[in-house]
Amino acid sequence: MKTFYITTAIDYVNGSPHLGHAYEKVLTDVIARFRRLMGDNVYFLTGVDEHGQKVQQTAKKRGIPPQQFCDEVSEEFRAVCKKLNISNDDFIRTTEERHKKVVCQILQQLFDKGEIYKAEYKGFYSTRQEQFLQDKDRNPDGRWPEIFGEVTEITESNYFFKLASYQDWLIEFLKKNENFVFPRYRQKQVLEFLSEPLNDLCISRPKDRLEWGITLPFDDNFVTYVWFDALVNYYSAVIDKPGLWPADFHVIGKDILVPPHAVYWPIMLKACGLEAPKSLLAHGWWSINGTKMSKSTGNFVEPIAFADQYGVDALRYFLIREMSVGQDSDFSLQQFLIRYNSELANNLGNLVNRTLNMTNRFSAGVVPAAEVSEEPEQALKALWEKTRDEVIPLCEGFQFHIALERTFAFITATNAYIETRAPWKLGKSAEAKDQALLKTSLATMAEALRLGVALLPAVMPETTVKINGVLGYTAGAVWKDELIWGSRLTGSKVAATAILFPRPQTEPKAG
Ligand code: MSP
Repeated sequence: MKTFYITTAIDYVNGSPHLGHAYEKVLTDVIARFRRLMGDNVYFLTGVDEHGQKVQQTAKKRGIPPQQFCDEVSEEFRAVCKKLNISNDDFIRTTEERHKKVVCQILQQLFDKGEIYKAEYKGFYSTRQEQFLQDKDRNPDGRWPEIFGEVTEITESNYFFKLASYQDWLIEFLKKNENFVFPRYRQKQVLEFLSEPLNDLCISRPKDRLEWGITLPFDDNFVTYVWFDALVNYYSAVIDKPGLWPADFHVIGKDILVPPHAVYWPIMLKACGLEAPKSLLAHGWWSINGTKMSKSTGNFVEPIAFADQYGVDALRYFLIREMSVGQDSDFSLQQFLIRYNSELANNLGNLVNRTLNMTNRFSAGVVPAAEVSEEPEQALKALWEKTRDEVIPLCEGFQFHIALERTFAFITATNAYIETRAPWKLGKSAEAKDQALLKTSLATMAEALRLGVALLPAVMPETTVKINGVLGYTAGAVWKDELIWGSRLTGSKVAATAILFPRPQTEPKAG
């Protein structure tokens, strides 16, 4: 079986993990978990990007050696993965020997082949972005855009990678691989970028300007440009694992699609005689309360603290339910609490509690067998089949927010079914027909709950296990078999109560 190899971007360690980092990990994890449910063998890589000017500068400000600084902040990123239940198989750091070794091998190979050459460069340089600028990067008024920070004119010798000579190849490649970038419209942006002539890529920085990097194997006066180093992580992490390359999926933010992932990376691989990744997914950006997140203004969400307060699965659910993959979204506590209360606590949580309560009250805690099937049961079963048949293709197309909406519509319908059958009334009647309906309604709500929850493990792994647990159920190994309406719960002993979405969540008062 071919392994599905999926990665996240590796995060800069010059700051602590924030909501954007958390989202990317959760999204990638949802895809990884979904593929595993579908029967794929999955290999999932994440990690941190530790070299470069920003890290060097931040370490200096903190007054500690860069390696020590990286060791500390990397642990914070690792802790976020653990807290958010990210099912990654590996966590790579670009300061690890296994990575540096491969970067050097690639550099030496390209240098020996004549793909890297030395030249004098004179021009403008942005320290903040660690990149050389061209006139076309200027604002219409001639000034440099703010994102570049301080821009200085410099003359220096550097090493260049012959990017330009692969431009035609890349254009052909993109035309042949129409689904290389998701969402598709972003592939057009890549082609637009390629409608202008490419420049060769400066892949070195003189050590007198930047020390914190991988020394070029063929000239120890220079370190490697941080992007040339970072991109290689996807390959260096699996070089000794046969059958994983090419990667199936790089999940990244929209800001790092063009040029690093969609231009530099496929060309670097091509020049090394390696295959390009199968596809790139560029997700959107989160703002918080309508503005850019920023630690200094307090407009910041600490993923671990947030998950501690509101629950890991509630955070995962919100991130996936709220954002349409590829588009931007806004995070606010108010919107989070609306979904928490109405969708998680009052809809799903309520269904679990009712099912447990009524099974305990009317059937000694044991799920009975259904005895009849009338219109309400048939309608719910038909809705289940429709929901399941829609949700799988939605997930295959990364429309997880709609998949969740459909799943929760089914949960709502199950709660409505309970209202229709009103087991609390049936329970007061001694008539055989009412007793048969009572058993049927208990069996039906339990089965519908089991099925609804069977669509949730990719997004809410812990909640799924908990709910199955209180239903006295352990899901089988073949996911698709779990999605068939039946009588798997007959005879199960349910728990007395369940605490799923605890603490009354009230909306914050203004002011
Ligand atoms: N180190 C580079 C990536 C190298 S990949 C070989 C980098 N790091 S980053 O820390 O700045 O960003 C890491 C990821 O987080 C990127 O995919 C980026 O798009 C994503 N996000 C950063 N801020 C974000 C939001 N506000 N919202 C959503 N994702 C965001 O770039």
